[in-house]
Amino acid sequence: MASSDLIDLRSDTVTRPTAAMREAMARAEVGDDVFGEDPTVQRLEETVACLLGKEAALFVPSGTMANQIAILVHTRPGDEIIVSEGAHCAWYESGAAAALSGVQPVSVGSGGLFSADDVVRAVKPTFDWYPRTSMVALENTHNRGGGRVWPMAQLREVAERARQLGLRVHLDGARMWNAAVAAGVEAAEIAAPFDTVACCFSKGLGAPAGSAICSSRDAIKAARRFRKRLGGGMRQAGILAAGALHALERHRARLQQDHDNARSIASLLATVPGVMVDLQRVETNMVMVDSPGIPADTIAARAREQGVLVAVFGPERIRIVTHLDVADTAVEGGQRLARVLASLTGARA
Ligand SMILES: Cc1ncc(COP(=O)(O)O)c(C=O)c1O
Repeated sequence: MASSDLIDLRSDTVTRPTAAMREAMARAEVGDDVFGEDPTVQRLEETVACLLGKEAALFVPSGTMANQIAILVHTRPGDEIIVSEGAHCAWYESGAAAALSGVQPVSVGSGGLFSADDVVRAVKPTFDWYPRTSMVALENTHNRGGGRVWPMAQLREVAERARQLGLRVHLDGARMWNAAVAAGVEAAEIAAPFDTVACCFSKGLGAPAGSAICSSRDAIKAARRFRKRLGGGMRQAGILAAGALHALERHRARLQQDHDNARSIASLLATVPGVMVDLQRVETNMVMVDSPGIPADTIAARAREQGVLVAVFGPERIRIVTHLDVADTAVEGGQRLARVLASLTGARA
């Protein structure tokens, strides 16, 4: 099967720029951004800072770099940071928090969410022999949690309690645009309680690359230095920033369609006997599917034969993610996958 015929439900990072986005990128006015001379990068940074209600923003190549710069800004080597169970910054960033900042993550809560009391319990006393607990990171939406959205009251309570305890608070908002649409709030409301916010343009928004870290002017000054140190200073980055600006302007409102598609697929798969989908956890563009007794590798291989790509997320768990490039085909992909799962569970019975 030609790769263009595949319905790719592995991740919302697989999108390719639309024709209009490519045109905006090709037309972008550029300069050397390490010299602070790229007008399109500057426009993106002003736009995203304003959208998130922060003083300043810094364009960085990836969400990973945005998270790791935040950790560098907020911590000292030997510190401990509190993260959610399965947090991206602890699971999927190649051990960067330990390697680059010299901190150890401790995870609290379950399924990606945690409470203010969890934070209180995790903070170490200030004796010499304990690590210093210096920051808390929330992830909204939560990737390993299956695209879960933090309830606004819980998010505010956790951030407020952390602040009272003298901790810095960071949001991994790689998919905060999805969270805002799902919660029916402005992105700035989600960002408000945080010292630093990382957000991505290359997930559901469909830009080819790029993320931003948003914060106070002072923190962004420090972040700029760390970006250079990590090799993230880009030159005519306005080409990429133009894609991000186009995505912010044109692709935010349509995220609801991805959420609707994910819900349709989840409802369909939940009807397959022997397959488990927690419909209450399907809040945005992700669906986690558990298949007791059937290896996820087998499901992924059989789905591929039927022209559908899914991500293996555990020995018996697959993840499905809807996005811009499958806006009209995702449900068809879900139907094919339902047939694959039905044949596998039938074969097992
Ligand atoms: C929640 C979350 N944070 C951060 C990242 C890192 O983004 P990047 O792949 O741009 O480094 C991802 C990537 O999928 C993610 O899901």
